[in-house]
Amino acid sequence: MATTFNEIAIFSGNGHPQLADDICAHMGIKLGDCEVFQFSNEEVFVRYLDNVRERDVFIVQPIVSPVNTSLMELFIMIDAARRASAGRITAVVPYYAYGRSDKKDQPRIPITARLVANFIETAGADRLLSMDMHAGQIQGFFNVPVDELTAFPLLADYFGSISQLAPVVVAPDSGRAKLARDLSARIGGDFAIVDKQRTGNSEVAEAMNLVGSVDGRDCLVLDDEILTGGTIAAAVATARENGARSVRVACVHPVFAEKAYERLDNATVGIDEIIFTDTLPLVRGEFTSIPQKSISIAPLLGDAINRIHSGGSVGALFKK
Ligand code: R5P
Repeated sequence: MATTFNEIAIFSGNGHPQLADDICAHMGIKLGDCEVFQFSNEEVFVRYLDNVRERDVFIVQPIVSPVNTSLMELFIMIDAARRASAGRITAVVPYYAYGRSDKKDQPRIPITARLVANFIETAGADRLLSMDMHAGQIQGFFNVPVDELTAFPLLADYFGSISQLAPVVVAPDSGRAKLARDLSARIGGDFAIVDKQRTGNSEVAEAMNLVGSVDGRDCLVLDDEILTGGTIAAAVATARENGARSVRVACVHPVFAEKAYERLDNATVGIDEIIFTDTLPLVRGEFTSIPQKSISIAPLLGDAINRIHSGGSVGALFKK
């Protein structure tokens, strides 16, 4: 296939350098050299130490803690690449923070997911490569092309490979119902839905009812992200109350606030294993009693970058 731009150049902000290294290792290329640091007044400074002129530049920067610093690093890295005459700039943002602020569902509030999209474009990005954004319509906040990858099939396939009998994929709220149905079909199981309620901006989630049967079954409760663990804890309790034989938990984005470790790492919650990807580094603690498994998305991102560069289909990565 014809290559439109000069060779690939991959750079990392301070968000998740390990992920950038792993992507480069998978692709068999060297991570680009650049300086990204803060002066004592907290202003971010960026300087590319490798030539980027006319190159196909990929900036790897999930929006991780500290979230607002990660964002500024991303914007400034894009700006610096543009001013250094990069041929094309792709923001590689595996975790798109502020994704939950995607609608005006209360009076006088912002739509911050849209604002972040505007900033990324204004800084000069030509494309976005992301993964399992909170809502599919966030793609529409961008006027430049967006490739949104998904790690859910990786999580479901792992669960399918270790479950016995027909497994059940459990959506922890109605927003994940279609996902649970699709993934259960993928692994030859069933699905169930927990009816969750959250009041206002409260971080406390309450599970109301279970739609579907989990009695005597191996269950996987899965969500795009876990922050405080409230949603997952309520869903796990519901599955247990309804007779689940085992309950595993999975998420793409392990945001894991300190509270999540306190809440979930507790035998009374009854989680048999927690499975997540490496879209984010784990910075706020660790689980001490729940077995855990991390599945790397670096190969998926590396393959997508190669395809974007060569004009290949990204969607073909997901054909089973
Ligand atoms: C919300 O709609 C999301 O999909 C997650 O359920 C939510 O972000 C999880 O948050 P927490 O772990 O604080 O309940």
